[in-house]
Order: sequence, then C-alpha cells, then structure tokens
Amino acid sequence: MTDAAARLTRREFIEAISAVGVGALGIGWAQAQDGGAGGPDDDRKIRIGVVGGGFGAAFQWHLDPNCVVPAVSDLRRDRCDHLMSTYGCDRPYDSLEELILDDSLDAVAVFTGAPDHVRHCVQVMDTGKHCICAVPAAISLEECEELIAAKERNGVRYMMAETSHYRAPAMLMRQMIQDGLFGEVLYSETEYYHPAKKGSAERQSLWYFNGEPTWRHCYPPMHYITHCTDFVVGVTGERFTAVSCMGRGATVEEDPETADNQYDNPFDSGISIMRTDRGNISRCNRSRIYYAHGERAQWFGESIAAFMPSYAGQPFVIKREGEPDITTLPSYLNLVPEPMRVSSGHGDSHTFITREFILALLQDREPALNVYDAVADTAPGIVAHQSALKGGELLPIPSFDPA
Ligand SMILES: NC(=O)c1ccc[n+]([C@@H]2O[C@H](COP(=O)([O-])OP(=O)(O)OC[C@H]3O[C@@H](n4cnc5c(N)ncnc54)[C@H](O)[C@@H]3O)[C@@H](O)[C@H]2O)c1
Repeated sequence: MTDAAARLTRREFIEAISAVGVGALGIGWAQAQDGGAGGPDDDRKIRIGVVGGGFGAAFQWHLDPNCVVPAVSDLRRDRCDHLMSTYGCDRPYDSLEELILDDSLDAVAVFTGAPDHVRHCVQVMDTGKHCICAVPAAISLEECEELIAAKERNGVRYMMAETSHYRAPAMLMRQMIQDGLFGEVLYSETEYYHPAKKGSAERQSLWYFNGEPTWRHCYPPMHYITHCTDFVVGVTGERFTAVSCMGRGATVEEDPETADNQYDNPFDSGISIMRTDRGNISRCNRSRIYYAHGERAQWFGESIAAFMPSYAGQPFVIKREGEPDITTLPSYLNLVPEPMRVSSGHGDSHTFITREFILALLQDREPALNVYDAVADTAPGIVAHQSALKGGELLPIPSFDPA
C-alpha cells in the first residue's frame, strides 16, 4: 500500500478527517478564525450590487456580517423586485449598464446568461469594481483571454461562482489530497446530467421565455461542464491539457425544436476523455437527455477511491485497500459566520461561495476560483465541443495561466 490513508486504521482515519476544517477552505479562512481580517472583530462591509434575479437571488450576501447589498438589477421588473426583497435592498437599476455606474459599490455579482458573462464582467471590472460571476466563465477561447486581460489591466478581483467547488465531498477530497491522505488521483469520472428532453416541462421553462428562445435553447452541452471539471481542477489542482470528445444529438426530424439554433449546435450530450498536466486521465460526461440527474465525481488512487452519492443510489463512500469503508462526511457549515449557516442549494455550496468572495476582498487576496482557475475549468469544455464537431479528434487545451 502506498497511500497514507490506506495505512491508517478506521478510527485514525475518522479522526484525521474530523480534524479537517478551515484547511479545506483555504488559508484566508484560518486567518479569519484566528481574529485576522474577516474575523469576528472586523466590522467592515463590502458593498455589492447583484445583477440577475434568477439564480442570482440564491446567495447569502445579506446574511454575511461583512456585506451589504445597496443596489440590484434585472431587465425584468418581477426579478428586480425579487432581488430587492431577498437582499433587503431599495435601489433597483434598470440594467447592469446603469448599476455599474454607481460609485458607492465595491463589487458586482453577475448572474446573467452565459453568453453575456464576459461582456458584463469586463464592463464591471473596467469601472474598477471587483466581480463575481456565475458559471461558465466564457463561451470561447477568445473570451477567456478577454476576461483575464480585463482583470489584469484593472487590478481587481474576479471569482467564478462554481458550486461544485464547495460541495462537501469536494472539500474533503481537496483537504485529503493536501494532507497526503489520498495520494495521486490517477483517474476520475465526473458527470453533470440535467434532463430537459423533448416535450418536458423542464425544457419549456429553461428554453423559452414569453414564447422566445432563451440563451439555454440548444446551448452546447460541453460549454457547461465546469460543474465537472472543477472536481479535478479545484480538487487536485491539475490543469487539463488535451481532450477527445464524442457528441450525440437527435436529428432535426427527431427533435424539430433544435433546427436553426443560435449556436448551430447539433449535440445534446458529450462524453469526453481528458488528459491532465500530471499525466492522469479524467472522463467527463454531460447530457440534457439521459435519464439521470446530478453533478458528481468519483476519484481513484492506487489503494483508495472516493465516490460521491449518485442518482442511482450510490452512497458517499471512501474505499481503502484492506480497511473498512468510510461513509461519513465532515460538516463544514460551522465554518461560516453563524447567520450564514443555512441550507443553500447545490450541496450547501452557495454560502461558502458568498463568504469566500467577501473574505478575499477583506483580506486583499485572490479568491478561490480566481480568473485563472475559472478559465482552467471552462476552456476544456470549449475545446471538447470543438473536438466533438471534428468527430472526436484529440485536441490540445491551451493554458491561460501566467507564465
Ligand atoms: N450551479 C450553478 O452554478 C448554476 C445554477 C443555475 C444557474 N447558473 C448560472 O447562473 C446564471 C443565471 O442563471 P439563471 O437560470 O438565473 O438565468 P436566466 O437567464 O433565467 O436569468 C438571467 C437574468 O439576467 C437578467 N439580465 C440579462 N442581462 C441583463 C442586464 N444587462 N442587466 C440586468 N439584468 C440582466 C435577465 O433579465 C435574467 O432575468 C447563468 O449564467 C447560469 O449559467 C449556475
């Protein structure tokens, strides 16, 4: 047995993972707990404007003791009202373009549709404000470059709000890898299934608004895989270097709604094999058709493997060679300030995303899921889609990391 975890008894292993705490969240969280910036005596308030009253209304800005929401915006009045009541805010703006002119704001949360992310984030950062944005970071490799350039020229902070990063199994895996309790992840399998099949109410609500197609209509499936890729990029710290992807899709005769779509996208599913910069392999599945649901991963070492719960009934488990299974996850919610200890969707990840962005600004440091991590999560899907369009050709994934 080569992995440290496989050498620990069950009791020692449970003690080791029970001691897992702020380490799973980063050094800034430990500093805040020790009374540094962002600690209980820090009464500063970050002033954040929130744009996008769908998913953007599902975060805990109003519960963070170091944050206030003075302004919100959505093009839709009903969603703007929803943002105001959620975040206790009385200053609505008609659009992001107007909100970003409000000089009282330190930061803006961008929760508009994916094709608008880079344009909106660049606009935010060009006013000198920090920016947190929903996934994916970008929809083309050129946009990845534009995003990084805007962050760098303005010297502001950028974070991508990837929920997989703060699911408890991902936090535990990140800590175990850092502490040498897992060893090298030689192979991983990740998947994101969210069915919206022909004729379903789910497709109707995601694909159309007032009878018009939304940005989600026929959106290329591999352009939305950060929920998967972050289970590697955000857990082992690896970068993806190459991908081969097979796409599948219904014909226009089988699914006439897909005709002449805005992305010219023929696929509803993609299955990809990716290589990492440490020579390991990951398989990433994404589908809006399969009869399956959820965002999950399983990670394999030489004598240890970890499995997230699945739609099919697989429970959370860590299997170790010659040792009993580990089936309990640590609880992390006690690490956020007391008012933020709420059930928050996507495996309770929202409250950690909220706190990490605010803590990073208070501590004047890069957040988790910074612009380079965000692009490392996003670009593999953009290249995977190109590969699928070329029948599965193995394509290199460019690095956007600073030299
Ligand atoms: N688990 C996750 O991480 C997760 C889950 C759901 C959604 N998302 C992401 O969150 C984002 C929002 O998702 P959604 O489902 O709410 O999408 P949506 O399309 O329903 O909502 C986007 C909102 O942005 C508003 N908007 C667009 N341009 C604007 C502008 N210039 N000024 C003001 N408002 C503007 C629209 O009116 C709309 O209400 C998407 O990018 C999506 O990919 C992520």
